[in-house]
Amino acid sequence: MASSPAAPVRPLRIVLPGGSGQVGQVLARHFQQRGHHVTVLTRGPYTAPWQTVHWDGDQIGPWTEHLEGADVCINLAGRSVNCRYTAANRRAIYGSRIRTTSLLNSVIAALADPPKVWLNASTATIYRHAPDRPMDEKTGQLGGHEAGAPDTWNFSIRVAKDWESAFFATPTPRTRKVAMRSAITFSPAPGNAFAIFSNLVRVGMGGSQGGGRQFVSWIHESDFARAVEFLIAREDLDGPINIAAPHPLTNRDFMATLREAWEVPNGLPIPSLFMEVGAFFLRTETELVLKSRRVIPARLLQAGFQFEFPYWSDAVEDLVRQWRRRDD
Ligand SMILES: NC(=O)c1ccc[n+]([C@@H]2O[C@H](COP(=O)([O-])OP(=O)(O)OC[C@H]3O[C@@H](n4cnc5c(N)ncnc54)[C@H](OP(=O)(O)O)[C@@H]3O)[C@@H](O)[C@H]2O)c1
Repeated sequence: MASSPAAPVRPLRIVLPGGSGQVGQVLARHFQQRGHHVTVLTRGPYTAPWQTVHWDGDQIGPWTEHLEGADVCINLAGRSVNCRYTAANRRAIYGSRIRTTSLLNSVIAALADPPKVWLNASTATIYRHAPDRPMDEKTGQLGGHEAGAPDTWNFSIRVAKDWESAFFATPTPRTRKVAMRSAITFSPAPGNAFAIFSNLVRVGMGGSQGGGRQFVSWIHESDFARAVEFLIAREDLDGPINIAAPHPLTNRDFMATLREAWEVPNGLPIPSLFMEVGAFFLRTETELVLKSRRVIPARLLQAGFQFEFPYWSDAVEDLVRQWRRRDD
């Protein structure tokens, strides 16, 4: 149900540091199709329908000229978290996020004509393991102190907290700041979360995981891009904002709905222990699936944002339809 691109009132200059990845491609395509001027800052420039410019995420360079006079900066840079949390990977995950955010702070604070708004990636993972109640921006509790929580969960929470602290550390009076506490973005592109869950379903392994009572927060790619567009336009909104569909659901219901959409009647449930073993061999971590994420986009809803896909059943139907259309 992709909405047809409408010509923008005034084309914006939008700069996306780290915009070459999964989320960046969703945003770059969305804004470019709406007639905005998109520049992706990347360590390896490539050919795309939008401009791609070299930066190293570490040092000031000619790339800073692209932020001078820009309307919007959306920073997504950071080493992928889809890996084993070895000491070296932890250093890279943490360092890449803090370093790039701090670098942008020093650059943006010094520009003559800085971007009007800067949205920095954060994550819904910042909230505690929440099997009991929803977490919104006001009443939600940040994690890191849960008794018995795995060390990997605490690491991710520390990254998220320090990432937001680094973002808000430098005052930028001429640039509004929004920390995007995003849930997992689901899109029908190969290699991302939707493909991983769908592949499990299609090989008969799509039962509930780790007991299935933990909650899953998610957002359809179209709503993610529309929420970012909304946040750019709404000059009264700043600070941390949850970007997640308003109806998180249990892992059991999440997987059952996915099976239904793929017309696969049964799926083998995977207990936590098997998940740990599988994750070890797939060189990833189980946190993505076993931690209960029950995040509510209270500030977006209060501001009047309307989700195109508030329910997983509608989102998944659309994603499967897009996937099948691509494969035909
Ligand atoms: N995907 C989700 O559902 C989700 C949910 C919540 C939060 N987030 C956060 O949102 C951001 C974007 O997510 P994504 O899924 O698009 O991630 P991604 O596909 O891994 O893309 C991140 C980009 O960061 C750049 N990068 C990697 N290591 C870097 C380094 N050491 N220094 C500078 N740049 C580096 C890479 O660009 P180049 O190689 O081109 O330089 C890469 O394309 C991430 O920070 C992620 O933690 C994502």
